Amino acid sequence: MSDILQHREAGVLTLTFNRLDKKNAITTAMYSRLADELEAAASDDSVRVAVIQGAVEIFTAGNDLGDFLNNPPVQQPGGETPPVMRFLDALRSFPKPVIAAVAGAAVGIGTTLLLHCDLVYAGDNAAFSLPFVNLGLCPEAGSSLLLAQIVGYPKAAEKLMLGEAFYAEEALEMGLINRILPPHEVNSYAQAQAAKLAAKPITSLRVTKALMKQSQTQLSAIMVDEFKHFGELLRGPAAKEAISAVMEKRKPDFSKC
Ligand code: COA
Repeated sequence: MSDILQHREAGVLTLTFNRLDKKNAITTAMYSRLADELEAAASDDSVRVAVIQGAVEIFTAGNDLGDFLNNPPVQQPGGETPPVMRFLDALRSFPKPVIAAVAGAAVGIGTTLLLHCDLVYAGDNAAFSLPFVNLGLCPEAGSSLLLAQIVGYPKAAEKLMLGEAFYAEEALEMGLINRILPPHEVNSYAQAQAAKLAAKPITSLRVTKALMKQSQTQLSAIMVDEFKHFGELLRGPAAKEAISAVMEKRKPDFSKC
């Protein structure tokens, strides 16, 4: 079965992370599929709302760590846009409502992708984390801008610099999510909200979203800049040590980084 499930029903496109044996870690192939689906749905009038969800026990463990080491995303001059960038750009520019349903851990891009969603529902087992610095990396997906805009600079700096997990109650207080639910109700609640939105006049929704996003004029350029730094850091010694340490289940040694 595919690592990304796609379901279309009554105007709602649902994309589900489905790689549970690897905690829904996202591979290059999965980013490609997500990008293809969102790009197609953006201009498909039969899709009025998109939902991104995981399983009751985990949303996603973030980028596949093996891919980080063996297949790092790079933007070559004149070359193809890496699938992760294509996915993030498709999500950033998606013209219709996007709802995220998060139960369990949402690591790295699992949290930063939420900053581009219009509504986020979370299970009381949700654990968000932005471990970029701990991995020798830097923020991505526009999170260096968006997180501070949503939660304020000090909170954003704490989450991005310390990289410690935080949980549903704090995420709600911070304004990162809309509501906390029992984990097994998160996906069905998101579907019910999606059905409500799908019944509304689509042009009004599109215009509302475009107006709400129009002040984010620098976001696209910041995402490109983040990606450049992220790619450079990914090839550096701190990231190599940190990612190997996670995979080998040991503490990293940054004394030489
Ligand atoms: N990339 C690749 N594989 C991953 C992964 C990732 N990001 N996260 C988990 N996995 C794999 C593990 O290697 C393990 O594989 P194995 O069974 O072949 O050994 C399997 O998924 C189960 O992971 P495990 O760590 O045993 O699950 P857990 O329930 O104890 O912990 C997490 C879940 C998400 C907290 C933990 O896996 C984790 O921290 N993963 C790394 C997250 C990360 O740093 N992501 C990058 C963000 S930028």
